[in-house]
Amino acid sequence: MSQERAVSVLISGRGSNLKSLHENRRGYRITTVLSNRADAAGLEYARSQGIPTVVVNREDHSSLLACKAAVLEATLSSKPDLVALAGFMMVLQPDFIEAFSGRLINIHPSLLPEFPGLDTHARAVAAGVSRHGCSVHFVDSGVDTGPLIAQAALDLRPEDTASSAATRVLALEHALYPWALSSLASGEISLQGRSVRYSDSARREAEANRYTIFP
Ligand code: GRF
Repeated sequence: MSQERAVSVLISGRGSNLKSLHENRRGYRITTVLSNRADAAGLEYARSQGIPTVVVNREDHSSLLACKAAVLEATLSSKPDLVALAGFMMVLQPDFIEAFSGRLINIHPSLLPEFPGLDTHARAVAAGVSRHGCSVHFVDSGVDTGPLIAQAALDLRPEDTASSAATRVLALEHALYPWALSSLASGEISLQGRSVRYSDSARREAEANRYTIFP
């Protein structure tokens, strides 16, 4: 069996995607959880699982830039093969993105390029879209603009609210993100330039799971 990839997961809050990434790990293991908030509930979960944690707080640094430099330093020193953002509410510096180019992914709760940024569920419901979902993408220097890896979608119901949409999409996230990370860890999915490459088996799995991919 090929060796497991070491993954750093960066969080700011609840950590439900972190939990799902950990529970459904295949071809990777989470070697560090970094949070920019000491009170992130996801840290408790990581500790309960014996996963090393690190907090890099804005309050402990003289500027936001210094804090971001510390995020990069802490992540580099944990020597991950891959980095997964999971509700990490900090825009990363270009040097971070460069350091982990092709190895840095994020999950976003909308069908990008629709609804980048915050409040995606409220905006989707207000816009009256019929399809909604989540996207996993490589991270570039824009906000939610990196090359798309895969999406999982559902039909929004007329009675859906922002809250019910969030709950239903979160269930999709918890399946999509571990699949995408496993596929990246095993080399079944990779980034070449700004194009995402999929092995035949990744394509078949995406189809079986009804994930949209972007070959
Ligand atoms: C998720 O909806 C994720 O898509 C977004 O932030 C939320 C994080 O939730 N980026 P959790 O902390 O993983 O529960």
